[in-house]
Amino acid sequence: MNTHLHITAWALAFILFIVVVILHKQGKAKGAKIIQMILRLDYLLILYSGGSLLANYFGGSPMMGEAIFKGLAGIWAIFAMEMISMKSGREEATKGWWIQLVIAVLLTMILGFGRLPLGLLP
Ligand code: HEM
Repeated sequence: MNTHLHITAWALAFILFIVVVILHKQGKAKGAKIIQMILRLDYLLILYSGGSLLANYFGGSPMMGEAIFKGLAGIWAIFAMEMISMKSGREEATKGWWIQLVIAVLLTMILGFGRLPLGLLP
């Protein structure tokens, strides 16, 4: 249940994030602002669903450390998306944050799908 919520929430975040960046590129500041607000609400959903998945690892799981690291990488990914959204609105350089976003998302995907046992994939 929470895995579905988690995956839906971050998949939606990626879509909303790309829309924000495109709208900023087109100079549509007002539209970007509205989508950015929805994106921020969606961050809360990611944090809530990720936090409740993380709770499963407390209380003696040998993978608790990796799960915590997965959560930190997820927070890093959210932070990078927020920085890129803000900076693209002000036409500031975003390259460094794009690089961080790619690293953080790779880490979350590898740890989430590849290493940690809960979730959809066998
Ligand atoms: C944009 C941000 C995020 C992305 C792209 C992401 C991605 C993923 C993926 C791909 C999975 C595996 C789902 C599956 O196995 O079916 C997962 C699970 C999980 N995520 Fe996230 N996540 C993000 C944010 C967070 C945050 C902020 C937290 C913690 C507060 C978190 C904690 C977890 C935990 C504990 C799991 C369960 C791992 C498992 O047992 O499989 N995630 N996430």
